[in-house]
Amino acid sequence: MTGNGDRHDGLDGDRDVIELLIEQHGQIRALFAELEGAVGDRRRDAFRRLVRLLAVHETAEEEIVHPTVRGTEDGAAIVDARVAEEHRAKELLSTLDKIGPDADGFDTLLIQLRDDVLAHAAHEEREEFPRLREACAPDRLRLMALAVKAAESVAPTRPHPGIESATANLLLGPPMAIMDRARDMIRGALGR
Ligand SMILES: [Fe+2]
Ligand SMILES: [Fe+2]
Repeated sequence: MTGNGDRHDGLDGDRDVIELLIEQHGQIRALFAELEGAVGDRRRDAFRRLVRLLAVHETAEEEIVHPTVRGTEDGAAIVDARVAEEHRAKELLSTLDKIGPDADGFDTLLIQLRDDVLAHAAHEEREEFPRLREACAPDRLRLMALAVKAAESVAPTRPHPGIESATANLLLGPPMAIMDRARDMIRGALGR
């Protein structure tokens, strides 16, 4: 956790997309740690939040970050490697979502997902985000942050007491459904 993960949305409107995505990397890391130590309902709840956060985060990067970086010099190879990592993570996430936190083998797959996702995030921060910053004006990077916020509204990734019900989870559906809705929100926010 970066320490400001639970700031109110209204107070962080000046952050750009890179700062926001790096903050989400911190939240993802913190959720994996929370899951490791949790049992029962707390574990199931932490896993649901991880599913939502990863679905929104990776979709945002696919829609916003990768297309821009792909257009930079030698950007295609960097983006292709990141997309392959994301594809693998999405498949693992879907498998974990299907079997559920109480299943045999969940822990082993979860550790694999954590290692893959955290390595992937480090690659993005080192190889991809600096290119994005170079390629875009500050105003554009702030506009992109608003699109990520729009995607977050599809599937709140921060704890909201009272809505962590089975019904709320059912309405959100599996990771792929969350990704589809997040994609629609991002395209709408970017005027596509
Ligand atoms: Fe990513
Ligand atoms: Fe990322």
